[in-house]
Amino acid sequence: KESREQMVVDAGQKKFGAVQCEVCGMVYRHADPGDESTHEKFHQDLLSVLKFPGWKKERVVQEFAEDCSRIIMVVHDDPKYAVKKIEDINNIMGKEMGFPEASLASKSKYKAFLFISEDKKVDGCCIAEPVTQGYRVIPESQPSQSDNPQSGHRPWYCNSDPEPAAVGISRIWVFGQQRRRGIASKLLDAVRQWFQYGSYIEKSQVAFSDPTGDGKMFASKYTGM
Ligand code: ACO
Ligand code: ZN
Repeated sequence: KESREQMVVDAGQKKFGAVQCEVCGMVYRHADPGDESTHEKFHQDLLSVLKFPGWKKERVVQEFAEDCSRIIMVVHDDPKYAVKKIEDINNIMGKEMGFPEASLASKSKYKAFLFISEDKKVDGCCIAEPVTQGYRVIPESQPSQSDNPQSGHRPWYCNSDPEPAAVGISRIWVFGQQRRRGIASKLLDAVRQWFQYGSYIEKSQVAFSDPTGDGKMFASKYTGM
């Protein structure tokens, strides 16, 4: 009971009577049976999609000894079970980012990178596609760090002239409770190393498609631009 009250307080600013689930991130009204069952279903679906006991054949591209996690790569023409997993994760990511209908069907040459935790769960996913150009996002003229506490909220502009790029990040997502621990950065490091065989992709050649607020902040930090 206590934790439920706490959740009500936490999400109070969102909507009266609304709570946000700490695990799946969904905001819903717990007094509303329709909302409750929608949440229940989403929550269970999320956990089952993210469960990852491991495959016999995995393309492990990196292992992290410190926490026994690893990154695996799945490509668009891998066996059905692998591609299905990416599609399921893509649906979950789409729901959270607000485009639930966006399917992978149009992305014919994608490579997906999954961050797998020691406890056999997908904690992050990045879907990358070949591109030839991107539009640079330009931050407002370099603010001085000290007198700009809200620098994360500054407006962003795009150059109108395209620049060459080698890889497009069409989706990047990290499980809510695992954010700000460097998982997205590790995924992008893997993309840059493995997306093109035999050549390493510079940060300046990575383009982010249609980034969210989180995505822009992460991208500017990661690329240093
Ligand atoms: N706000 C401000 N800065 C951020 C944020 C944020 N939300 N996220 C990352 N950063 C910056 C920080 O400087 C961070 O370093 P720090 O934690 O030491 O300060 C640095 O980027 C590296 O961050 P990571 O820990 O590697 O990133 P994380 O694993 O948390 O994943 C992500 C970032 C993928 C954006 C995550 O917040 C997420 O899944 N958000 C919801 C889905 C989403 O919006 N994805 C981006 C869509 S855009 C696209 O897909 C092209
Ligand atoms: Zn939930």
